[in-house]
Amino acid sequence: MKSLLFSRFLLLLPWVLIVIIVLDIDSSRAPLPALSPRGGAEGGSGGARPPPPRRRPEAALPTIYAITPTYSRPVQKAELTRLANTFRQVSRLHWILVEDAAARSELVTRFVAGAGLPCTHLHVPTPRRYKRPGLPRATEQRNAGLAWLRQRHQHLPPPQPGVLFFADDDNTYSLELFQEMRTTRKVSVWPVGLVGGRRYERPLVENGKVVGWYTGWRADRPFAIDMAGFAVSLQVILSHPKAVFKRRGSQPGMQESDFLKQITTVEELEPKANNCTKVLVWHTRTEKVNLANEPKYHLDTVNIEV
Ligand code: UGA
Ligand code: MN
Repeated sequence: MKSLLFSRFLLLLPWVLIVIIVLDIDSSRAPLPALSPRGGAEGGSGGARPPPPRRRPEAALPTIYAITPTYSRPVQKAELTRLANTFRQVSRLHWILVEDAAARSELVTRFVAGAGLPCTHLHVPTPRRYKRPGLPRATEQRNAGLAWLRQRHQHLPPPQPGVLFFADDDNTYSLELFQEMRTTRKVSVWPVGLVGGRRYERPLVENGKVVGWYTGWRADRPFAIDMAGFAVSLQVILSHPKAVFKRRGSQPGMQESDFLKQITTVEELEPKANNCTKVLVWHTRTEKVNLANEPKYHLDTVNIEV
């Protein structure tokens, strides 16, 4: 009896082992989609493709520095809110907000504290003599942003990969724009919508190079491009420490050219947005608010920040 049991056991043993081994191989090979982390906002529309290998994107991604000049006016908080809602969705974006003011305002200070993204809050007033219609705006504020950026990276060799762009507070930015500018090697360019008296302006591209400009306004500009139409690598900003926006001799609409010609050439520009055929940023301008019925003296029972 005992030997019969033993022989049955011996007969079954190899089969049991085979089943165990097969099960083991199967489970180690099978993908575990339910357990793997979700792709998140950066995942493309992959279709049936296998999941991409695990990346460590946060460490490798160049930081995007957005320099935004801003000034006090009734729509300021609304503009900053729209901007923050966009920027918050962009990974590794550092917002450099520069107030055109003699001191940091309470409104912007509070706003920055609750903005929910990395933010540096600077201020510099525009001298009174430059606050006139027909003169370029935000020269001092953009320079303050540049100075901060250079100072921050002065003591940190080698510089971390980074990209700088100038983000006026009233424009409209698509999220795709940030994907495009992130790969800037030196200076990249793209179309801007609703600018220059046309539906859009854009760099003309042939064989991957910028060869001219589609514009309806001052086509003689060396770089016929709006402030919202280009980005510069941090490397270029650091290796051209003298490149700044100049008041002396500058005219509105020439600030971009005056700045860009200090750091690059037209031949060197990197076209983005599908060879400059897609509009990913709009030079929107907010209309002046009608405050005709605003009382001269405070009438409400509470004080409300708008
Ligand atoms: C156009 C360009 O798109 C701007 O980049 C350029 O600075 C400007 O012309 C110019 O004339 O210099 P536009 O829409 O006419 O832009 O100018 P705004 O949007 O009124 O101002 C540009 C930026 O400067 C904004 O971020 C705004 O908040 C800021 N700004 C404006 C100040 O910081 N102080 C001011 O007194 C006015
Ligand atoms: Mn504007």
